[in-house]
Amino acid sequence: MEIINRRQRMSSVARKLRREQDQTIGLVPTMGALHEGHLSLVREARRMCDVVVVSVFVNPAQFGPGEDFERYPRDLTQDTTKLSDYNVEYIFAPSVEEIYPKGFSTYVTVEGLSNQLEGVARPGHFRGVATVLTILFNTVRPDFAFFGQKDAQQTMVVKRLVRDLALDTEIVVLPTVREESGLALSSRNAYLDGRERRAASVLYRALMYAREAHDDGERSARRLAEVVRTQVEVEPRAQLEYVSIADAETMERLDKLPDDRPTLIAIAVRIGRTRLIDNIVIQPARQKTRATVEA
Ligand code: PAF
Repeated sequence: MEIINRRQRMSSVARKLRREQDQTIGLVPTMGALHEGHLSLVREARRMCDVVVVSVFVNPAQFGPGEDFERYPRDLTQDTTKLSDYNVEYIFAPSVEEIYPKGFSTYVTVEGLSNQLEGVARPGHFRGVATVLTILFNTVRPDFAFFGQKDAQQTMVVKRLVRDLALDTEIVVLPTVREESGLALSSRNAYLDGRERRAASVLYRALMYAREAHDDGERSARRLAEVVRTQVEVEPRAQLEYVSIADAETMERLDKLPDDRPTLIAIAVRIGRTRLIDNIVIQPARQKTRATVEA
């Protein structure tokens, strides 16, 4: 495994793999602090591609003022150890200056999709995500790039980015990995103390109550949102920031859940000082008898 810090070196290694060795490249973009969720992406990349590149870069452009950029967990040594179990060929771990050199002034914005949910709560977040992913995709030119469903809106933004800018990369989205309590794995879980961690299971529980209500026939988005809100309120350490019930493909808010299209129920909750997000996809009632994809 080679750790590459320079953009130019990463480009030339990737070019060689593609042109001279005809290898397919899988990119797993991360901000490090790797957990089982990331590793599930690495496993799939390993299965699908000849060469796996994992990028580790805490991207300042996607953090707003007062957010956790400074304290975001960073431990490249531990990340490297974890990745060595998967025979990852390259870790791309550039510095901030390497990605955003002096005078950097070009940003990528995916309009519309970026201005909802997380985009409202975190203005500029998806502009930072779309910009860094464009740079990573242009550097590595991966055949496939791997993302987790936990960041549902991010997966939609990246799919739109790739489609609109005609980038030659296929986006692969894999299910959220959860602890036994239901808590979705996230690098930010490291901020939680023991009691907060237990409290954080309320996110998934609230989503499951909504799924159950839907299964029992509830189709009103307002009432399903109320189910989520009521469950989150049961947990004194939790503060609901938003619950959104939207079309899973367009992110358009819904009044009534359709029986022919998947619906995304997404929430953001603060547990103490930590902001967590989670979501589920409710498959349309008419297709439920076919294989159901769990978010
Ligand atoms: O999901 C993340 O960890 C980040 O948003 C990503 C995709 C690596 C871009 O910085």
